[in-house]
Parts: sequence; structure tokens; C-alpha cells
Amino acid sequence: MLEVAMNETFADGQVRFVKGEGGLSKAVISNAFCEGELYLHGAHITHFCPRGAEPVLWLSPTAVFAEDKAIRGGIPVCWPWFGPHPSDPTLPQHGFARTARWEFVEAKALVNGDIENAEAAATLIRLQLSDTEESRATWPHAFHLELTATFGRSLKVELTTRNENAESIEIGGALHSYFRVADIDHVSVLGLESQIYVDQLEGHCEKSQCGAIRFDGEVDRVYTSANPIFIADQTRRLSVESWGSGSAVVWNPWIEKSQRMADFPDNGYRSMVCVESANAGQDRRAIAAGQSHTLSQTITIDERAW
Ligand code: BG6
Repeated sequence: MLEVAMNETFADGQVRFVKGEGGLSKAVISNAFCEGELYLHGAHITHFCPRGAEPVLWLSPTAVFAEDKAIRGGIPVCWPWFGPHPSDPTLPQHGFARTARWEFVEAKALVNGDIENAEAAATLIRLQLSDTEESRATWPHAFHLELTATFGRSLKVELTTRNENAESIEIGGALHSYFRVADIDHVSVLGLESQIYVDQLEGHCEKSQCGAIRFDGEVDRVYTSANPIFIADQTRRLSVESWGSGSAVVWNPWIEKSQRMADFPDNGYRSMVCVESANAGQDRRAIAAGQSHTLSQTITIDERAW
């Protein structure tokens, strides 16, 4: 059984490999700071919960766990394009990385000095994905993609694309994080005040954000990014910091779109909001031959008074 072999190869006490939902392999992380879960399918983080806190990520109770489907909730990895394919609408929305089977590279405990402000060990997990005949049929380029997730008091996710071709490539993508909130009526997304955004619901027209983002209808926007972005509700404030990203997507499907999605409960929109660290729209990145680009996101429960 694959999970037994992986436990022998990778696990170090903080990480256990088990068969998760739908028989898909997942890593279960438990250390002094937090608990987490990460599926090989899509390199998809489905759970992050700092000790003593409520879970940070929203996972749909009707999510489908199958090899040909993206998991609804957690942190889908959108890559090598964001949204619909720029020229071929028959290709999968948000690319193919979120439905690919990734390979484990390593899982290790980080000790003092490896990470900033760490008093004890956090857990690092690294996965990789390379081009195959199947991927080249969809996207005709050689690549090496690596996802590193560090589970500590914060969750840090780094997605590195290395261009293995003799010529430049262009990529888009997003760490499409679904955050759990107590009640969408009381949620404010802060930090994007005065930023320009593209409204994906109104013919991609450009608008300017006025004040905090509040939700009373469907929201699907690509913002010029800012750092950090905060998600505040009555109970807590989360901070989202990004690197290698000039765009941030804010999404809530609201009532009708929730009803149209088979893997999303009708009232699911009330308890989630997506704030995505992205390379979306004009923020697609050209990567020269042999070079790399890293898109990363750190998610923290902000303990400071606000
Ligand atoms: C968001 C997009 O990032 O993802 C939305 O901006 C989209 O337009 C949403 O509806 C969910 O996409 P999917 O493919 O996971 O249903």
C-alpha cells in the first residue's frame, strides 16, 4: 500500500500518510503549533488549524474527492493559467495542476533557526510535479513545479515554477485559498482600499475600491495586490501576505452561484470567502529559459488588537 511505503520513506513523527476521502493519499500533520492536511491530489491543502484556534480554511462539506475533480475548499493550486484558458475554452478552468497527482519529495521538522520566530519545530512538506505526455498535450511546455508547505503557527505555501525549456514561457496561477468565516454579513476584507480591480462579473471593467470590501452579493474581482490583506469577522482577523504576486482575487459566489455548484452547499457562501494570492490577468509572468518564479502566501491568525 502506497501510504505504508510513504510512511517508511518520509514520515518523521509529525507527518503520517493515510488514505483520505475518495481513497486519495493525504499527509496528516500534527506538531506543537498546529494540525493540517495535504492531499497529493492537486498538492491540495484541505486543513490548517493552529492549536487552540478554530480551523482557518473552509472545506466544502459536499466536496468531491476524485482523481478528475478539483477539491472544493482548502487551497486549490491554479496553474499554469488562472480562470478560463486564454485562448481555448475547452481546456480546464484554472489549469491542470489542481487535478494532477503530485509526488512527495520530503517531509521534515524545522527547528529553531530554520524559520523566523519559531520556538519549537514546524513541519515542512515538499511536493513536485513535472510535465508528462498528457500535460504536454494540454500545455506544450517542459516544467518543474514544486509546492512547499510549512505548517507552523502560520501556514506558508510556496509554489515555484522552473522553466525547463530552451525558450521563455508565460504562466498564470493562484493559491486559491478558501477562508472560513463566522458569518459573511460581518466580514470585511481590508488592505485593498483604493486599489484598482477588474470586475469579472461586469465584462472585466476596471473599477477602484472604495473602503473595505463587504459582501451583499456575488463578488468576483482581480485586484492589484497589496500586502498584507486582512479578513476580519466578529470573531477574529486573518492576515494574508503574498510574494511574487501582483494580483489578489476576492471571490464569494453568493446565493445563485452556490446553488449552481454541485459540490457547494446552498448556504456555503455564508461561511467562506476566497482571498487568492495570484498571477492573474495582466500579472501573468514570463519566465526565461532555465529560470524560476515563486508565488507564495503566508496565512496567520492576527493576534494583535484591531
Ligand atoms: C475564482 C474565479 O478564482 O474561482 C471565479 O475568479 C470562479 O470566477 C472561482 O468561479 C471558482 O472556480 P472553480 O473552477 O473552482 O469553480
